[in-house]
Amino acid sequence: MSAPVITIDGPSGVGKGTISKALADALGWHYLDSGALYRILAYAAAQAGVDFADADALVALAASLQIDFTSGAQLNGKSVERFIRTEQAGEYASRVAQHPQIRSAILELQRGFLKPPGLVADGRDMGTTIFPQTPHKFYLTAAAEERAKRRYKQLKEKGLDGNIAALFRDIQQRDERDTNRADSPLRPAEDANIIDTTQLSINEVLKKVIGQLPFEVDVPLD
Ligand code: DC
Repeated sequence: MSAPVITIDGPSGVGKGTISKALADALGWHYLDSGALYRILAYAAAQAGVDFADADALVALAASLQIDFTSGAQLNGKSVERFIRTEQAGEYASRVAQHPQIRSAILELQRGFLKPPGLVADGRDMGTTIFPQTPHKFYLTAAAEERAKRRYKQLKEKGLDGNIAALFRDIQQRDERDTNRADSPLRPAEDANIIDTTQLSINEVLKKVIGQLPFEVDVPLD
């Protein structure tokens, strides 16, 4: 490997994004939000009227997209942040991500994010498929009820409406699809550090992750 990688995998709503970004910032490393790639692809497919079941058309579409994360998620030069962070975009992404052809089409793109001084990679299969050789693997879990509550709180903070029962149902459906797909299903790598975050704050999770790393990490933890 050209540089070290920390992989952070787990189901939706577990706080991977927050933890991964905080860690990447503290280390001064790059950050790969692999879920955003599937979200952008699903968004582009919906815009172009491509059927989520049509793997060949999705692969052709993926090859034509210009994706950039230097200032938020951008597609073909335009910010798509506000379109791709919705619950519906997550659901669409999960459907698109089921196709093995799509997963292999964006495999090298994901590995290309690995550059010195290092990478924090967030997703479902970072430790199992994309960077299996890294010794720094984490898998975060939390009860689905707790994840629905966290999502609800996030939506409220953004001034958006949410319904806990609907969020819980969506999370269960997404878990089910992501866990049962044939290619690179959601599961911990055999050598991953598994952290149950149900009873933990973001800072407590960060502390646990940092405690397992052989790097100096400068994060202000209270
Ligand atoms: O992490 P996220 O919620 O942004 O991911 C959205 C969907 O994308 C998720 O439900 C499944 C898919 N995904 C995936 O299959 N593999 C990844 N490495 C990341 C996301």
